[in-house]
Amino acid sequence: MKGVILAGGLGTRLYPLTHVTNKHLLPVFDKPMIFYPIETLVKAGVTDILIVTSGPHVGHFLSVLKNGKELGVTHLEYAYQEKPDGGIADALSLARDFVDRDSVAVILGDNTTDANISKAVKSFSDGAMIFLKEVTDAQRFGVAEFDPKDPSKVIGIEEKPKNPKTNMAVTGVYIYDNTVFELIHKLKPSDRGELEITDVNNIYIKSGKMKWANLDGFWSDAGTFTSLYRSNRYWAQKNENDIV
Ligand code: TTP
Repeated sequence: MKGVILAGGLGTRLYPLTHVTNKHLLPVFDKPMIFYPIETLVKAGVTDILIVTSGPHVGHFLSVLKNGKELGVTHLEYAYQEKPDGGIADALSLARDFVDRDSVAVILGDNTTDANISKAVKSFSDGAMIFLKEVTDAQRFGVAEFDPKDPSKVIGIEEKPKNPKTNMAVTGVYIYDNTVFELIHKLKPSDRGELEITDVNNIYIKSGKMKWANLDGFWSDAGTFTSLYRSNRYWAQKNENDIV
């Protein structure tokens, strides 16, 4: 399985910090944010990795990550998303040649988690898999809806609903077979002008090819000042017990 980290976007919610560098290179405790998704992939045995990025600071990635060897990456590639806010599915579409006939584990570059996804990676065969997490602020996320007759079955995902039907958020960790690229190719931009990963996931759900798992342990994005602070606080406390 290949690994893709999506580190495009503009990071406007973190201005003025993101005037200086790319959001995914900002510190989360003692390392740049993007180290966390890389480590999640490497821990799961996924060491062939593509980073999709964009915006004015793309050169910074090379100085920080180099060829990725220090993080256990065996092969590191970079792709440039021309429209930085084209959407998560648009960013993923750039990985088509890299993934080739393989399957792909995808993580959003501002998501940090201590969950171990090895089992899901090893047992994955085809279709898609999403990782869900119970949250208290579901309105901020894609939210999963379950079959009332079979609560283990996801029947749809609503993007940032005003009145979420459940509190199970779709995290930024996904696994897809390589049919995902054909599917994105046929996708139309949403009202906000983005190719939406929620649309991709709903197509897999409709065709009965979506599985899901709980993302165990800590998970947060770090794209707002509150969530960036939350992530810093969690990782600091986890690694240095004396920090309060
Ligand atoms: P967002 O946080 O939704 O978008 P953003 O990073 O542009 O930030 P802001 O809304 O503050 O301007 O994106 C979530 C992740 O997805 C982020 O880590 C980067 C990635 N992403 C891309 O790679 N390409 C894209 O076109 C978008 C929208 C996001």
